[in-house]
Amino acid sequence: NAMLTWQRTGFHFQPPKNWMNDPNGPLYHMGWYHLFYQYNPDSAVWGNITWGHTVSKDLVNWYHLPFAMVPDQWYDINGVWTGSATILPDGRIVMLYTGDTNEGVQVQNLAYPANLSDPLLLDWVKYPGNPVMVPPPGILDTDFRDPTTAWAGSDGKWLLAIGSKVNKTGISLVYETTNFTSFELLDGVMHAVPGTGMWECIDFYPISTTESNGLDTSINGPGIKHVLKASLDDDKHDYYALGTYDPSSNKWTPDDPVLDVGIGLRLDYGKKYYASKTFYDQHTQRRLLWGWIGENDSENADILKGWSSVMTVPRNVVFDKETGTNILQWPVKEVEKLRSNGNVYENTLLEPGSLVPLDAGLATQLDIVATFNIGEAAFDAIKEVDVGYNCQTSSGSYDRGVLGPFGLLVLADQSLVEKTAIYFYIAKGVDGIAKTHFCADESRSSTATDVTKSIYGSSIPVLDGENLTMRLLVDHSIVESFGQGGRSVITSRVYPTKAIYGAAKVFLFNNATGINVTANVNLWNMDSAYLDTLPLAQQ
Ligand code: FRU
Repeated sequence: NAMLTWQRTGFHFQPPKNWMNDPNGPLYHMGWYHLFYQYNPDSAVWGNITWGHTVSKDLVNWYHLPFAMVPDQWYDINGVWTGSATILPDGRIVMLYTGDTNEGVQVQNLAYPANLSDPLLLDWVKYPGNPVMVPPPGILDTDFRDPTTAWAGSDGKWLLAIGSKVNKTGISLVYETTNFTSFELLDGVMHAVPGTGMWECIDFYPISTTESNGLDTSINGPGIKHVLKASLDDDKHDYYALGTYDPSSNKWTPDDPVLDVGIGLRLDYGKKYYASKTFYDQHTQRRLLWGWIGENDSENADILKGWSSVMTVPRNVVFDKETGTNILQWPVKEVEKLRSNGNVYENTLLEPGSLVPLDAGLATQLDIVATFNIGEAAFDAIKEVDVGYNCQTSSGSYDRGVLGPFGLLVLADQSLVEKTAIYFYIAKGVDGIAKTHFCADESRSSTATDVTKSIYGSSIPVLDGENLTMRLLVDHSIVESFGQGGRSVITSRVYPTKAIYGAAKVFLFNNATGINVTANVNLWNMDSAYLDTLPLAQQ
């Protein structure tokens, strides 16, 4: 079926077939980036969880390797679940992961490469003394999973976090170790947020408030904040917060309690974006992030097409020095080497209600950067409008207000029966203060009836004098959208049936009734990345 084949991505990582979920244990070793992932070797639905393994020299082209770990021990026979890598100062690599035992208990296990001098790290040894951590008193057997990368504490001791919950309070437990085989649970919790439920896939790392490089996970001190991220099992979204980590008390405190983990900022406002994980790339001094993009179609559709899920492109994470309130996520610069056939549109005038087709050639794999300017005079003359606007509760890109929406339509067919809209919508108070929203409307993305089509997004910080800008990575059935340099990100997983192959088009639109908008656009076709087995010559 051509439509189902078409959905496969050209430059986003996917296994050759079957089910994938969380990214696991990313690391850089001897010239290679390694990414492991939750994988079902037998089918396109979750189960038999095994560690898939892929490597890349450039974060763009990926080679599929044999499984790193399979569920074959009593302590992981029900699944080799999510885990993280720690690189020790002497170069050894420690992998800690959750095993679902023969009795359905979540325990933490240790594994390490059999041969550290193998750049491909093909063979993994499970420590014979596993498990190394079992659920402590007061924690349910099914609420204890996904160890983080460890960071060095005082006195040569290592610390790591594990997500859990107590009643409905999401918590981060911290364990201490010197040898990665015996662990001690520290008193109290690093952080807890009532009402957020089970915390899966905690990510915890330092971020520099002054420099643009990433930081090794063990770094702390002046000019550093710590990001705490949890994947909320109850609502299946990733939330993060910026805060301060005090190693002496082992407590993390959010900068702003209103923006705490699970109630504040989301890493990605897409309906399906989950279980993300960063690592410190010591090769280029960056903090790189991967996230799992699940499906919005039915399980039957996944079985029919033989696969489920896509990985985001790796994103570089830095602190937003301009706002001070959020991180910035941006596709790694390596992705730009796939750009070809650039096309530039300058000062394209978008009057109220206008639609302008862009010549994008084959518009199924694209990188688009668009900047929007609003006519000052008209904007200033407008008094209070849409102060209560909210992407989620709006009716999407057709909802015409005075100051929005305007943006891009991608994966659109000529007649606009199908389109995915990514746009800004400005609300304005009588005080003259504008609040900008960055939204994605999937509601008309597909004529298929068995897929969930949502409208979502968030308000996005826009500072005085800034234009509105968005960058979109379009790849067949997914769109990753970065607003204001990555202050807010929205991933859309869509299922066009008509806007496919040569029928896929791109348009600029302005559905605002009260303002002219001028757009500057840079648009590139994206070549396909290599996503296949490792050729012998490379080994
Ligand atoms: C998150 C998660 C993790 C678990 C893994 C199992 O998606 O549920 O908590 O370790 O997936 O596949």
